[in-house]
Amino acid sequence: MITWGISANSHDAALAVFTDDGLEFASHSERFSGVKNDPHLNQELIEYAKQWGEPDEVIWYERPFVKTLRQLRAGQGIRLRENNIKHYLRSYGIHVPIRYIDHHLSHAAAGYYTSPFTEATVICLDSIGEFDTFTIWNATKDNGLRKIYSQGYPHSVGLWYSALTQRIGLKPQEDEYILMGMAAYGDPLRLFNDILEDFFHPIDHHGYLSIFNDKPRVRLKHNLHRGCKWWRPDLTTEQDMFDIAAGTQAVYQYILKYISNWARWKSPSGNLILMGGCALNCSANGTIKSDWNNMWIMPNPGDAGSAIGSVLQHKKLHLDLDHAFMGYNIEGEYPVDEVIQELKSTGICGVANGRAEFGPRAFGNRSLLADPRGDSIKDRVNEIKRRQKFRPFAPVVLEEFATENFTGYYNNYMQYTATCTNRDLYPAITHVDGTSRVQTVGPDGSGIRRLLEAWHKETGCPMLLNTSLNIKGKPIVNNLTDAEEFAKMYNVKVFTKASNDN
Ligand SMILES: [Fe+2]
Repeated sequence: MITWGISANSHDAALAVFTDDGLEFASHSERFSGVKNDPHLNQELIEYAKQWGEPDEVIWYERPFVKTLRQLRAGQGIRLRENNIKHYLRSYGIHVPIRYIDHHLSHAAAGYYTSPFTEATVICLDSIGEFDTFTIWNATKDNGLRKIYSQGYPHSVGLWYSALTQRIGLKPQEDEYILMGMAAYGDPLRLFNDILEDFFHPIDHHGYLSIFNDKPRVRLKHNLHRGCKWWRPDLTTEQDMFDIAAGTQAVYQYILKYISNWARWKSPSGNLILMGGCALNCSANGTIKSDWNNMWIMPNPGDAGSAIGSVLQHKKLHLDLDHAFMGYNIEGEYPVDEVIQELKSTGICGVANGRAEFGPRAFGNRSLLADPRGDSIKDRVNEIKRRQKFRPFAPVVLEEFATENFTGYYNNYMQYTATCTNRDLYPAITHVDGTSRVQTVGPDGSGIRRLLEAWHKETGCPMLLNTSLNIKGKPIVNNLTDAEEFAKMYNVKVFTKASNDN
């Protein structure tokens, strides 16, 4: 039985292939089309997925008819034709039975069925699914996922965060992580009360942080579906934008803490799973971690990850997820020696080898790597990436050396921010507030692990600067052609396999 999980026709489409042996493949559509956050499928992706056989069924990540009703309520007109998924899939030559899973249930299942827990509380926070924008679930081995709270459109923390992203001149539904990075340059207190009071209703007389409320309502004063460009036209300077970013991030953390406290109060297990696009906010994630016994975030917690989640819910299947390398395969031995020689001689190079990462981050198989030591490397990498100078780069570090260099939370998927304790030694991977979005690598035999071990042996340095290998405005490199294009455009070597591997 070949089952395809599909999340598409909204933003950032993805496809996952399951056989009787389990998950075989998962990729964002953009990696094959070259269109960043491509909302649609494409024939190249579909043909690649067919190497595991023609699909017998498709599990779709949300309920299109319910979504149509919400769009109608939101004043977006009747979009019956656009939401006709049978018709949509047929346009790609897919003629198989389709089953539909609720949008937030797909999120919750992607988290629960990939987690190490048998019992957990799941919080899903995103912009919008069908109607749900924020849900809490109890997950148990016997009963699966049971929803214990849901909040509906237009009251959406994700939509609000995206609206503020647009307010500071960035692209909503895409640049939220840039707002998060800008927050460190602003004053979080200057606009905190203004943002909280202008956008949110007080929860009740207990106040925002009360866990005694019957329900963890977070209600907006305005429908922000079309943004909030109207908010505070007096704020126009660059510092104002940094202060809006800082205030927004602080209010988000305040609300997340409230939601987390409420859910923790109701949680029998003390295990938290955080899902939905908001779970990509690594600065905020660490602020609630200590309130729980354990915490899991699937490495691709947004809608694309629901290509996997929808199938896991349908099959009630637990996956042991210990890596994110699920995409297109560039065959060959990981080029450990070649990368080290290049790093020693120029300080920077790319690597594109093995299965591509499924998710927004590169973990070593589609990465631009650099020696993290010294003052000049950040500017050099920024020049190649052509991005704002304030944005930090992330370190990838041998797990056993993480405590020597960082305090706080970190894991294999860059889901938290830690404080760098050797900031002078590694300025390129430290943000202005002293934090780093750390990726640790344990002894898993992966290419990046072997590279880090060899790099450490050669130089004494246990980490590398790691940023995604992509041309500005384009998705992360997928295949050999993309890797060559990157190398040519930026005049940086990109190694795709060991030179002695024919
Ligand atoms: Fe979502």
